[in-house]
Amino acid sequence: MAGLIPENILEDILSKVDIVEVISAYIPLKRSGRNFKANCPFHHEKTPSFMVSPDRQIYHCFGCGESGNAFKFLMRYERLEFPEAVEIMAKKCGVILPEKQVEDTQTNSLYTQLYKINELAAIFYQEALETAMAAKAKDYLLKRGVSEQAIKLFRLGFAPDKWDGLINHLRAKNIHLSLLEKAGLVLPRDNGGFYDRFRNRIIFPILDIKSRVLGFGARALAGDDKTGAKYINSPETMIYTKGRNLYGLNFAKEAIRVKDYVAIVEGYMDFIVPYQAGFQNLVASQGTALTLDQVSLLKRHTHNVVMVFDADQAGQAATLRMLDVFVEEGMNVKVAALPAGFDPDLYVRKYGLKGFEELIEKADNLFDYKLKSAKSRFNYKQIEGKAKISQEMLPTISKFKNAVLKSEYIKRLSEELAVREDALLEELSKIKEVVPFAPLPQATGKKAFTVNPTEKLLIKLMLEENELIARVRQRLEPDDFQDKKISELVSVMFELTAQGKEAAPSKLVNYLTDTDSLQFICESAFNPGSYEQNKEEVINDCIKVIKHKKLHFLRQRLQEEIKIAEDSGNEEKLSQLKVEFCDLTKKGRKEL
Ligand code: UTP
Ligand code: MN
Repeated sequence: MAGLIPENILEDILSKVDIVEVISAYIPLKRSGRNFKANCPFHHEKTPSFMVSPDRQIYHCFGCGESGNAFKFLMRYERLEFPEAVEIMAKKCGVILPEKQVEDTQTNSLYTQLYKINELAAIFYQEALETAMAAKAKDYLLKRGVSEQAIKLFRLGFAPDKWDGLINHLRAKNIHLSLLEKAGLVLPRDNGGFYDRFRNRIIFPILDIKSRVLGFGARALAGDDKTGAKYINSPETMIYTKGRNLYGLNFAKEAIRVKDYVAIVEGYMDFIVPYQAGFQNLVASQGTALTLDQVSLLKRHTHNVVMVFDADQAGQAATLRMLDVFVEEGMNVKVAALPAGFDPDLYVRKYGLKGFEELIEKADNLFDYKLKSAKSRFNYKQIEGKAKISQEMLPTISKFKNAVLKSEYIKRLSEELAVREDALLEELSKIKEVVPFAPLPQATGKKAFTVNPTEKLLIKLMLEENELIARVRQRLEPDDFQDKKISELVSVMFELTAQGKEAAPSKLVNYLTDTDSLQFICESAFNPGSYEQNKEEVINDCIKVIKHKKLHFLRQRLQEEIKIAEDSGNEEKLSQLKVEFCDLTKKGRKEL
């Protein structure tokens, strides 16, 4: 997370701000012993479980698990990116950020140049739309009901029907063609030179959350299909990754915050037409399945999503499976299905804003929607049908983090299918057994992440007394810790210590991108310290146990390999493995 901002600057800021002051500017804090507490601003509660520690300069909610330092609080509360939060805090406490230094690095100036070129291109296309050669395109937009105002707001444009329209325009501004290529605006010719990528198309600039132009979508004119695809889009460039952006978010974010939900549609026109009609809390996926990045991006603005599907997508297994990503991320998902032959653009034009709003209001929650869809495909009165339906429903149910929801859904499913609950629960538990090999979902709720108690204790001790880190580092590798997230956390602690820096929770938070480890260290910082007297011994024991476990694990793995080599009669491999096994045993004796 720390990224481009120098560490000493971050430390400087953190040493000058008081987390209690920062947080109490937003919510009232009450003293409670050494700490402060409040009703958590990140989830609904009636008794306070949100704790702030002035000693450690961190916060943690024992209800929902949200935790971090002052930067993190600002990011979460104000929905900011890390650098933005740093900037605000720096201003508050009078620390000057080395902006110039950052801007001048080479890659950065290339980024800046690409944004600039895209901006110039967007203006070129916009101006072209107002010329005579774009008459057909302009007419087409107006006929489809896009207003002049919307054309301006969304910066719609026209790419002239020429091979070098943009090239000539930008060349006159002394822009190097290699930069145009890097921006994805031109393509190389076989025999040298370049030509415009977008020709004779209506242009939809793709803007990021700060309204900078990242790239373009370009639609062929109706009845003019000789060029193939209806839309062509900018390729991925240094500044544009399709799966990281959502069309329209910059325009919609305010409405999304106010209404606290977002509708997700597919196409550019499906965004523009409802938006200009007054339905402004929506984004467009640009016709592809949503990525985890996009879901996280939305999650910063709301936790409630309504997917708007057209009739032919609505029942597709792939479409339905995609929705589990939202559940996994702790978002509430609903599905609104359009009648056959409609997309949101057409629906709004036919039934108006009211009609569209009603459709969204009637959206089914994910469970109901999936059940309905499964029931329409399988016969829920027959045994095989029941099995098929539960097979579709259980993976989704298993992704809900909230135990109450989970058990309610199991109950509902059992009623709907007339199958005993315990049979469904048994099937549900089978799904879980496969999970350890899959990446752990990002936990938002408490206790989603359980750490081996020995590893937990050792980390707690190291956090309490930073001097211990160097000693543990002499005897353990980050890899010795079994849990991948913990081993990452440990390697950050080791790294900071090696650089002679403090590894306090409030500092570690800046380096941790994983929510679980972040929650873990903040939570353990609030738990009272134990083993004050015999720390030495406790630490030795912890190290021994961890080493022993690791050794046991390695030995088991070698034994398995040996068995395979034996079975397949691979003598050479076998003797090599046996040597390894001996070495491992010797090493174990020496160390433990
Ligand atoms: P649609 O085919 O539904 O187009 O694709 P649309 O947006 O409704 O456009 P109109 O109404 O025909 O003018 C939905 C989205 O999928 C992407 C675009 O982002 C489009 O908006 N798409 C579609 C492409 O990238 N390429 C294509 O060839 C088609
Ligand atoms: Mn359409």
